[in-house]
Amino acid sequence: MGRKLGIIGAGKVGEALAIGVAARGLVEKKDILLSVRTEGHRAELEAKTGIRAVLDNREVVRLSDAIVVAVKPKSVAEVIKAIAQDLGPGKLLISTAAGVSLELLESVAPAGTPVIRTMPNMAVAIGEGMTVLSPSASVGKEDLTWATELFRSVGRALVLEEQYMDAVTGLSGSGPAYVYVIIESLADGGLKLGLPRDVATELAAQAVLGAARNVLLTGEHPAKLRDMVTTPAGTTIEGVLELEAGGLRLTLINAVVKAAERSAQLMRKAR
Ligand SMILES: NC(=O)c1ccc[n+]([C@@H]2O[C@H](COP(=O)([O-])OP(=O)(O)OC[C@H]3O[C@@H](n4cnc5c(N)ncnc54)[C@H](OP(=O)(O)O)[C@@H]3O)[C@@H](O)[C@H]2O)c1
Repeated sequence: MGRKLGIIGAGKVGEALAIGVAARGLVEKKDILLSVRTEGHRAELEAKTGIRAVLDNREVVRLSDAIVVAVKPKSVAEVIKAIAQDLGPGKLLISTAAGVSLELLESVAPAGTPVIRTMPNMAVAIGEGMTVLSPSASVGKEDLTWATELFRSVGRALVLEEQYMDAVTGLSGSGPAYVYVIIESLADGGLKLGLPRDVATELAAQAVLGAARNVLLTGEHPAKLRDMVTTPAGTTIEGVLELEAGGLRLTLINAVVKAAERSAQLMRKAR
């Protein structure tokens, strides 16, 4: 029999995960239970997802084998303390909160509770998420495999040591936002040249998607792939030189670093 999944704090990430997991069939809708804080949101969530939602977090824990806590980082400790009496070695606890350490999660959960810190991104809603998981020492192989499969059912998932979490947060956690800016800007370029907005946006988004797929499928260094599409004295080198003159490369590197620094700052505050 499959495991029952509980999601406490089914906001943007929690809802996206529930929809994605149910759509891909790793856990059936009837085996998922969601919770939020307000009745209006609860009713809306149930109507939208067709998944049962409650206001009682302890009920979620009692009825689930694995519990994803997807509330805002500042609420995580308080939420886990309030459900602690129903947790224990038989319940897998998974947090999606940015900047909330395994140390903090373990300090508020009962001893022996297997805890996994994760950093997903919003693309889990469409099955193209990127999630990194860091397990605590009490997580067994079976639990880690199940949790990894849970996030693989909604995209890619990797297990990494917790020391990389700030970098992961700055790169794949926040990354979709950077790429939206890139797509919007490319489309504006098309607009300036007279393309209709919808056409320009489709062209830009598919160019990004195709390039991303190529990197993942071939495993080639992006610089090699760029070289392959840049013919001597051609059009692309003109565009690439403009990117270099505008400092795009350094800007993107700094965006990842700044977001990672903010993640580390949030972690210090949460302690
Ligand atoms: N957004 C992202 O791209 C992203 C990416 C990676 C990780 N994360 C992490 O994922 C977590 C959730 O982020 P989000 O953007 O999904 O936030 P969100 O949309 O604000 O969702 C949080 C949800 O938690 C519910 N909630 C608050 N307190 C609760 C409680 N005591 N019991 C049960 N439910 C409660 C809220 O319900 P009500 O609506 O009823 O108040 C809300 O729906 C954060 O910790 C964030 O760091 C976010």
